[in-house]
Amino acid sequence: MPTLVQPDTDFSTLPELPAEVFTAPLKKPEHVGDDWLEPKQADYSSDDDAIWNDLFARQMDVLPGRAASAFMAGLQKLNLNRGGVPEFGKLSEDLTALTGWSVVPVPMLIPDHVFFWHLANRRFPAGNFIRTRETFDYIEEPDVFHDVFGHVPMLTDPVYADYMQEYGRAGWKAMRYNRLKSLGSLYWYTVEFGLIEEASGIKAYGAGILSGPTEIVFATEAQSPNRIMLNVDRVMRTDYVISDLQPTYFVIESFEDLYRQTVERDFDRLYRSLSPGFTYANSAVIDLDNVLHRGTQEYLLRGGRGSGARPV
Ligand SMILES: [Fe+2]
Repeated sequence: MPTLVQPDTDFSTLPELPAEVFTAPLKKPEHVGDDWLEPKQADYSSDDDAIWNDLFARQMDVLPGRAASAFMAGLQKLNLNRGGVPEFGKLSEDLTALTGWSVVPVPMLIPDHVFFWHLANRRFPAGNFIRTRETFDYIEEPDVFHDVFGHVPMLTDPVYADYMQEYGRAGWKAMRYNRLKSLGSLYWYTVEFGLIEEASGIKAYGAGILSGPTEIVFATEAQSPNRIMLNVDRVMRTDYVISDLQPTYFVIESFEDLYRQTVERDFDRLYRSLSPGFTYANSAVIDLDNVLHRGTQEYLLRGGRGSGARPV
């Protein structure tokens, strides 16, 4: 009996954010409603389209052989290389035909409960804006390239598409237990920084890895980071780093395995046993881990991004 989601919940209506639940303080722009959706996608300039094309080309130099085959297939199916920032209407048409998902424009990061609501209804909120030449290599806030290039191809995979919807639906219960931080860790180590074991080796399916040129090599090939088989209980107790390469990646056998591991878990028991903070540091290896590669952590020990360490 799956207990990831709360029984008898109406996922079609926007949930209330309980007062005691902490989320990032975001100020809603005046022109958007409670759904945080932009009335329409931005009009992109020719410079914006050129930035998309250049980012796309840069990723194509590093992704083949390192990105999950489901991701590479998704890029093809959605024809994301037709030139310029994709038009969400056409993209949604193609995606809906494949898995029933659509892509909707939002102005910026949106509050957790609104994000859960969109995912639970198979809508993927994507940043409307695109980075500039000045922020070409790294941006803190997800833009349309990260969101559409990084996340949307995976939504063409039917099992992964179901996982994302279940993740959204899981938000209701996590809010009731005030454990959004733990659920956020699961998102981080799967949807953003997940790896998958394929016949030809370890590949990346997380959008945080796939939308940049450096972490894809680091995550799949470098000696520094740990690569550990995913265990949902363990991951939800593990801290993560937002603005640097991850010291640890979690690896799944298949998307079916990820889906099953998540929806079959007793989340009521899990939330009751979790403390509000994290138990494990992001570089920790613990006794119960099924370790594929124990990292040297050389990159982290040399000080990481702040000290200009090489991602080895
Ligand atoms: Fe993302």
